[in-house]
Amino acid sequence: MQTTFSVTAGDFTKAGTASSQIKRMLKQLGVPQHTIKRIIVALFEAEVNVIAHSFGGEVQCEVTPEKVFVRVVDTGPGIPNLSLAMKEGWSTASEQVREMGYGAGMGLPNIKKSADILEIDTAANNHTDIRMTFYLNGDNQ
Ligand SMILES: Nc1ncnc2c1ncn2[C@@H]1O[C@H](COP(=O)(O)OP(=O)(O)O)[C@@H](O)[C@H]1O
Ligand SMILES: [Mg+2]
Repeated sequence: MQTTFSVTAGDFTKAGTASSQIKRMLKQLGVPQHTIKRIIVALFEAEVNVIAHSFGGEVQCEVTPEKVFVRVVDTGPGIPNLSLAMKEGWSTASEQVREMGYGAGMGLPNIKKSADILEIDTAANNHTDIRMTFYLNGDNQ
């Protein structure tokens, strides 16, 4: 089972759209509620990051009997210093983004805590490709 949603840069009115569609799909597939919660916490943060920080991108989700794989990939501008970006509270969000209640610098750290496996490919002037794996029968359940 695989699905893809596009995410438009700058459009905060649509923040959470891809996440809620995927949440509904995971419920229909019988994924346990506590696992759905972990997935949506991470996915929502990655989705908002595409809206707030990128030129636009997409969310892909694949469900197998063993795991849920979520990929959030955008077309740039990339993250120049990923280890800095992973720090709690570190943010380049604009004043405008902060006024909307985003930009606390907790997105990437929360993604790291929520996913069983997190892989990020990014670089300055490149895309950002975030791959998250959530096991359906892991210790985290
Ligand atoms: N998709 C992305 N494209 C470019 N930069 C990003 C992306 N996601 C995160 N970042 C960078 O990493 C920083 C930290 O992200 P995050 O922890 O989600 O905090 P916040 O979004 O609140 O700033 C962002 O402020 C931004 O500089
Ligand atoms: Mg964020």
